[in-house]
Amino acid sequence: MNKDAKIYIAGHKGMVGSAIWRSLSAKGYQNLIGSTSKELDLREQQDVRDYMAQEKPDVIIDAAAKVGGILANNNFPYQFLMENMQIQNNLIDAALKTNVEKFIFLGSSCIYPKFAPQPLKEDYLLTDSLEPTNEWYAIAKIAGVKACQSIRKQFDKDYVSLMPTNLYGTHDNFDLNSSHVLPAMIRKFHEAKENGQTPVTLWGSGTPMREFLFVDDMADAVVFALENRLPDYLYNIGTGKDLTIKDLAETIAKIVGHTGEIIWDSEKPDGTPRKLMDVSKMHDLGWKHQIELEQGIEKTYKWFTENINDVKKVTI
Ligand SMILES: NC(=O)c1ccc[n+]([C@@H]2O[C@H](COP(=O)([O-])OP(=O)(O)OC[C@H]3O[C@@H](n4cnc5c(N)ncnc54)[C@H](OP(=O)(O)O)[C@@H]3O)[C@@H](O)[C@H]2O)c1
Repeated sequence: MNKDAKIYIAGHKGMVGSAIWRSLSAKGYQNLIGSTSKELDLREQQDVRDYMAQEKPDVIIDAAAKVGGILANNNFPYQFLMENMQIQNNLIDAALKTNVEKFIFLGSSCIYPKFAPQPLKEDYLLTDSLEPTNEWYAIAKIAGVKACQSIRKQFDKDYVSLMPTNLYGTHDNFDLNSSHVLPAMIRKFHEAKENGQTPVTLWGSGTPMREFLFVDDMADAVVFALENRLPDYLYNIGTGKDLTIKDLAETIAKIVGHTGEIIWDSEKPDGTPRKLMDVSKMHDLGWKHQIELEQGIEKTYKWFTENINDVKKVTI
């Protein structure tokens, strides 16, 4: 990939988009563009068409989406379905119409069926029912994968979808109303420590198993997809290793320095019992993650404490 290629990172101020921007800049890519949702609302089709006609990017990386945890997905199903479809449809269709040769679409591991065999292979897509708590978001993402696949098939363009496992890291969302499990735990343990080691209540039974990837590793996978024409349409991105939510809580408590009690609220939903990605397709092509979980949590907690006054608050 030419270092002067014009690369549009949609969602460049988000956790993933900003990591991709940093990673590409560090590798010498000089022609990066991005717009905030205030400057360009990707739900507005004509605005997206005008932007693309004016900017004419060579490559688009779609890291723009409405994202959130179980609570947010449950409470706002329409927004999670419709806004995600609007954002990705407008970008993908405008990309095709302005002859963008390369498009990298970011989805999520929740596209796979709730009870699919573990670890999750790309082939399990659309083989059974989804997890109901986030099916709205998942269906939008599946539509995005299929849109890119159809362009690949019909027009022979390098439109590829990467499905990250749970991501975490710097610039994460630490708002307890809408955050994912790992940053929510960091915030809860930190605040409990500051309040004199008060007990921390966590959702569910603690038994589900999850996999986590540090966001800089995700950005590295995107750069890999940018610099190589991947032979297939869909790739899982993760570490290939998981742990129980209970083990995650204990790891975070240790790093944060919380020594108080942990209470599990089993009235709250657990979500999918296990979600581990099979990452052998990416490994076979030569990509592998670099940052292990403890190291990643340490980096994230350091960033959180340094930015505690202005960590992102998402309002839905
Ligand atoms: N976080 C995870 O654990 C995770 C896991 C798997 C996959 N992913 C995927 O990775 C991608 C990025 O997620 P993230 O965690 O980086 O999310 P994020 O931090 O919330 O960032 C989302 C970005 O999307 C932009 N955006 C949202 N609505 C928009 C709109 N209507 N118009 C223009 N821009 C809009 C936001 O722009 P503004 O800030 O300007 O509003 C923001 O930059 C998503 O596709 C997500 O599905 C994330």
